[in-house]
Amino acid sequence: MLHDEKPSNRSSNRPFQDVLKANMSRRNLLKRSAVLSAASFASSLVGNGLNSRTAAASSSGTSFAGSLIAQSLNPEIGFSPVTIAEAIVDSTVPHISSDYQYDVLIPWGTPLESGVPEYAGDPVNRTTADAQLKQVGIGHDGMHFFPENGTSNTKGVLCINHEFGRTPHVLGKALPESVSDVRTMQHAHGVACVEIEKVNGAWQVVLDSPKNRRVNFNTPVAFGGPAANSPLLQNTAGNEFQGTVNNCANGFTPWGTYLTCEENFNGYFNNSQVDQANAPDDPALGEGSPLTGADERYGVTAEGFGYAWGGTSGTVFDPRCDTSNPAFVNERNRFGWIVEIDPENPTAKPVKRTAMGRFKHEGVGGTVGAGGRFVGYMGDDQRFDYCYKFVSQTSWRSMRARGLSPLDYGKLYVAKFNDDNTGEWMEITYRNPAIRDAVDEQGQPVFRNQADVLVFTRVAADILGATPMDRPEWVTVGPTGDCFWAMTNNSQRETADAVNLRAPNPDGYILKTRDSGNHVGTTFTWEHFIFADETHAEGDERTFSDPDGLWADPDGRLFIETDGGQQKGLQDQCLVANPETGEIRRLFVGVSGDEITGIAYTPDRRTLFINTQHPGNGDPTTTNFPAPTDGVTIPRDCTIVITRKDGGIVGS
Ligand code: FEO
Ligand code: CA
Ligand code: CA
Ligand code: CA
Repeated sequence: MLHDEKPSNRSSNRPFQDVLKANMSRRNLLKRSAVLSAASFASSLVGNGLNSRTAAASSSGTSFAGSLIAQSLNPEIGFSPVTIAEAIVDSTVPHISSDYQYDVLIPWGTPLESGVPEYAGDPVNRTTADAQLKQVGIGHDGMHFFPENGTSNTKGVLCINHEFGRTPHVLGKALPESVSDVRTMQHAHGVACVEIEKVNGAWQVVLDSPKNRRVNFNTPVAFGGPAANSPLLQNTAGNEFQGTVNNCANGFTPWGTYLTCEENFNGYFNNSQVDQANAPDDPALGEGSPLTGADERYGVTAEGFGYAWGGTSGTVFDPRCDTSNPAFVNERNRFGWIVEIDPENPTAKPVKRTAMGRFKHEGVGGTVGAGGRFVGYMGDDQRFDYCYKFVSQTSWRSMRARGLSPLDYGKLYVAKFNDDNTGEWMEITYRNPAIRDAVDEQGQPVFRNQADVLVFTRVAADILGATPMDRPEWVTVGPTGDCFWAMTNNSQRETADAVNLRAPNPDGYILKTRDSGNHVGTTFTWEHFIFADETHAEGDERTFSDPDGLWADPDGRLFIETDGGQQKGLQDQCLVANPETGEIRRLFVGVSGDEITGIAYTPDRRTLFINTQHPGNGDPTTTNFPAPTDGVTIPRDCTIVITRKDGGIVGS
């Protein structure tokens, strides 16, 4: 298909382009001057009365975040932190607190079945498309441990996201050269469900477990919720629903399923007619591609992110990813969702839950709110994008008893932050006249129904006047009901506002919100928890930048994982904060080029799992981790298993 032929179904998306133009100017108007007193938004780690509050009781299970039985909280941190001086000596290996120890688990290429080869980082003989189907993927990110029988501290299924692997890291070349190359990369992405067991003190894969599973870009999937049958999800090619990609952070449900979140899906779509090797420098890239206005709002471009799965220079690899092919013009609408996976049923199709909206989903911080409703807080990780909340229609238990998914029926909200430390959750619904009556320049409705609204959630949120944030990443709901949000950074912010106080904001901050109505209300209060730049002073050992992964443990501690350039010579790290005292201690420091992300734990919290993602950015001259240093072996993403030497709770 020539790139200048127009797609047959472009008209259905066309109105969004006009709305987008209007909304771009609206978004500019929303940028306000910072006229607020510094004092009223001082970002101190003030005590928040953790000990005096108790969480709303819930019977949803022993390990479900934010829904714990009332208890006395104790967020004290007793371990010796990794000092800056210790951490910067050698960046080819990780560093951990002297009170702790770590092991490496499931590096990229670990076989899940006997007979499958291990990929151990050989720079010459790389992994293959076939092998990668049954190997642990690359780009370890969000994950959750599902204990056997709901209680085991020594056996369970670890569901883990394989967010991405750059082409040179996976293939050892700049671009794929064949469909086989593309399949290798596609199979390295996605999700792994791996049964693991602690044997003689060490965690290992249960090889050949029937629960072991890989989900990748080509795995059959299903859709649920109001947009499941939308024409906007259908291609004239008639192809089935397949795959998940760029699985970033995660969530989990009180009914025992894993939620994997599709983030930068746009980067995997590109115009096969364009030379992808020169794509980043080609000013004409956007031309000649049947990209719609809505694609523009989701960042789909002719060049993608250099994966070139669609093809390059006139050679098509995977037509699903080729933006020049009008027969697949809605393929990209099938990505950007939250996907539910049942770790106990490896043959069940993953289900994309459309009621939770379509954007660049970072993760979902789940809890159980008033009336037993499932509530998920969600960030859309892009500069100037938004914070969201989903609330199930009624009690998750009653919905499931009726055979309904609590993730298919409910309300989706987007956040508006007021200057006075209050905020509103604005429902994203076709019933809202601002959305229902939105028209394009020809007077045609922008949205025809709730399905349209959900497929183009960002456009609807624009119309409602949501507050543009500094790249919302993870959210975690603490035991007191407070939500912590990571705003990782925003180098392009030119004007501060009440909540986004730094312009530009190169180091990020952590926001704290508290909902009305036990998580199901439409208002909230907010305050700054900490700005990362406040930790950089000379002699301040806390220094961190670019908060990304967050987990509030049941004692009230806040685990902070970073992704970005750290100061004072540090690599990315995992720190633990005591919100009552403002104390922050450094638990773990990764290797050069990596990102620390993902957090999972056994029910007793004596074992913590975190990930190092893209160690050395795949460059073996930087680090060979987890292999011993040899300057040759390709570094591999892996899970880090952390335990206290005295067997205590991790973080204490
Ligand atoms: Fe995949 Fe926003 O981190
Ligand atoms: Ca990541
Ligand atoms: Ca992230
Ligand atoms: Ca990040």
